[in-house]
Amino acid sequence: MNPCISRSRYSSHSIPLTVLHLFLLSLVFAQDNPKRGIAYLGDTHENDNSLLLSDKSPISWYYNWSPYPNTQQIPNDALEFAPLIHGIDEAENSRTSSALNSLPRSSRHLLSFNEPDGTRDSGGSNIEPEDAARAYIDHIVPYRSGDRQWLISHPSSTGSPRGLEWLRSFNKSCYEIDEENGCPTDFIAVHWYGAFDGLAGWLGTLNEFYNTNTSRDPPLGMWVTEMALPQQDEEATVQMMNASLPYLDNLDYVEKYAWFGAFRTDDANEWTGDGVALFDDDGSLTDLGALYMGGEERGFEKGQRGEGGSTSNAPADRKLLLALIVATIVTISIC
Ligand SMILES: *[C@@H]1O[C@H](CO)[C@@H](O)[C@H](O)[C@H]1NC(C)=O
Ligand SMILES: *[C@@H]1O[C@H](CO)[C@@H](O)[C@H](O)[C@H]1NC(C)=O
Ligand SMILES: *[C@@H]1O[C@H](CO)[C@@H](O)[C@H](O)[C@H]1NC(C)=O
Repeated sequence: MNPCISRSRYSSHSIPLTVLHLFLLSLVFAQDNPKRGIAYLGDTHENDNSLLLSDKSPISWYYNWSPYPNTQQIPNDALEFAPLIHGIDEAENSRTSSALNSLPRSSRHLLSFNEPDGTRDSGGSNIEPEDAARAYIDHIVPYRSGDRQWLISHPSSTGSPRGLEWLRSFNKSCYEIDEENGCPTDFIAVHWYGAFDGLAGWLGTLNEFYNTNTSRDPPLGMWVTEMALPQQDEEATVQMMNASLPYLDNLDYVEKYAWFGAFRTDDANEWTGDGVALFDDDGSLTDLGALYMGGEERGFEKGQRGEGGSTSNAPADRKLLLALIVATIVTISIC
């Protein structure tokens, strides 16, 4: 028997029931934050990953400075993966395009050259603007057309006057090579290490450079792919993050952001110092980690550790839950 039949088709209960169900469901299943992601060094501790991927986690995307996703630690359908082509060697390598082609369809954004104005020892790709412009036009721009139609980003400079100068020269070289199109871009990748006002100022400068001064409509979106307050104690770092997250969540032209980084204090580099890590040496959330995971509102607190051994079930569980939610909504709206 059809369970809907006993109730009137135009029952006045239908709408309040749907709203009530949605409300209850939203309490049970916390939403991902569409902007919040992780700059991932390939943390191999299972409990760290299961916490980052748990149902209550706000994390929705990640990248790892390469076109190769960490499928061992982060199953394909758990988070959106954003590939990155680090420098000219990677842009020229034929393995890069086959890696990009085999990514799941949820990957649509392609990041290009990492800190070309920075040296290799600090993770930069150390590329002259003219060489970068040539390689970008030859190897990155073609990814915009073709089967996948990637959305591509300009190189991400360091957050400094030197970075802005580099971007200016890059743009000039682009137009010298291609007078009509320069180096087309679909979004901008931004790095910032420093205090909150500096982050807001740097975003403002790039917005002026790319959007206001060139009157681009609609404005280019920005991805803050690295940010942190280096070399500070826990309190100052938590304060900086606490000021930055709501600011980035509310700023329309910021599409994504990723704190540096999702690793244990042991794995922090000397330049940033330990204070930036989301996990301490035994995999417990730091104050900073709890804040990035959404804090007590979402059920995360300092000292919390993830489960070992349950990571691989997470995506399957999520799919099942989604199917149940859809089924509930369909049943309610048909009845
Ligand atoms: C935007 O244009 C103004 C006026 O020409 C200039 O002073 C400013 O430096 C430009 N901003 C950037 C970020 O290039
Ligand atoms: C890049 O250079 C072109 C050509 O000179 C100019 O029209 C454009 O405003 C520049 N773009 C940026 C972002 O500075
Ligand atoms: C973050 O900022 C909010 C509002 O400014 C404040 O109420 C809260 O206590 C701060 N949290 C932390 C962990 O500093």
